[in-house]
Amino acid sequence: MTGLLSIDEHKLLVVPQGEFSLKRNPHDERLQAWDAADEFLLNHADETRLLSGRGRVLILNDAFGALAVALASHRLYSWSDSFLAQKALRDNLLANGYPVDQVRTNSTIEFPTTAVDSVLIKIPKTLALLEHQLYALRALLHHDSRVVAAGMARNIHSSTLNLFETILGPTATTRAFKKSRLILVERDQSINEGQSRFPDSYELHVERDYRIVNHASLFSRDRLDSGSRFLLEHMPVGEQYSRIVDLGCGNGVLGLIAAALNPGSTLLFCDESYMAVASARENYHNAFAIRREAEFRVCDCLQGIDSESRDLVLINPPFHQQHSIGDNIAWQMFKDARRVLRKGGELRIVGNRHLAYHARLKKLFGNCTTIAANKKFVILDAIR
Ligand SMILES: C[S@@+](CC[C@H](N)C(=O)[O-])C[C@H]1O[C@@H](n2cnc3c(N)ncnc32)[C@H](O)[C@@H]1O
Repeated sequence: MTGLLSIDEHKLLVVPQGEFSLKRNPHDERLQAWDAADEFLLNHADETRLLSGRGRVLILNDAFGALAVALASHRLYSWSDSFLAQKALRDNLLANGYPVDQVRTNSTIEFPTTAVDSVLIKIPKTLALLEHQLYALRALLHHDSRVVAAGMARNIHSSTLNLFETILGPTATTRAFKKSRLILVERDQSINEGQSRFPDSYELHVERDYRIVNHASLFSRDRLDSGSRFLLEHMPVGEQYSRIVDLGCGNGVLGLIAAALNPGSTLLFCDESYMAVASARENYHNAFAIRREAEFRVCDCLQGIDSESRDLVLINPPFHQQHSIGDNIAWQMFKDARRVLRKGGELRIVGNRHLAYHARLKKLFGNCTTIAANKKFVILDAIR
């Protein structure tokens, strides 16, 4: 099936299943919405008739929907921790003539509960997420279920293969294709010991003790990130900060401490990761119980948040999207922050010194002050 909405921005994936026009989210004309591992997996599925006569297919961690769109004629459930990935899947289904609900997807961190006949896995950036997913898969696989994973060879290590071996059963890898590999797994039903370690937690002390819960995909899961710690030391405090946003909240530490230091404030926590928002919600409720309400949103930057409605936005910006590095999401976050801040409202960020956010903020806001700096990080402030 070719792209019915064949827009220039889309690039064409040509595989045995057909030709599909696909776009990344956010769009980046330099990058395509699939990698060689997707092509390898789709070629393998066709050559081995992997899905023929099979009922339910589960896809994990499809980056921008390339696998699900190419296989959309099957009964698919596509699970991803990323709201951006799911939005890309919906857009790409539409662009290729399918209804958006052609493929079932998750809207929380919950895994599907019904048995599956085939599982296709893209190796995620976070190994802990893979580990968690493999444990969850045990309950869904029957003796004849097939599991095939795919990734770029540079992202497949002996620790990756070890996870498959110890959690599911005997594992083999294929030859390489354009620097990607497949991992073929046989489920050994006698391997059942152990269970997922996630969510796990660490202790944080900022004027009082907090237990910080982290689901499997979280940024800086086992200890506070040193950039976040630096920002905690320079947290704005004052009555003017009554509506605070923790954008790209991860486990919510920035918003949590901002709430504690600004007792009259209301908080909005936003992240594109379902597991991040679930962690932030748990951490906030553990700290403040029902005494303080807050809002938690899985969303793309601040899409859907009213303009000029907030007093303070806190950001420790991401520099990765899945396996690729870039600052386009940070830039979008800054633009959205400017839009939702009231006149006189404040954006406070922490960033690696070498990332030159100062110039960007100055261009966008017309001002930018360095609040603090150490060997690695700077804390910057821009006023709307
Ligand atoms: C560097 S981490 C910071 C996490 C947390 N604020 C901290 O300081 O520990 C960046 C966060 O941005 C989130 N993120 C990435 N892209 C996003 C987007 N488009 N919209 C919202 N959040 C996003 C990531 O999921 C991640 O949790």
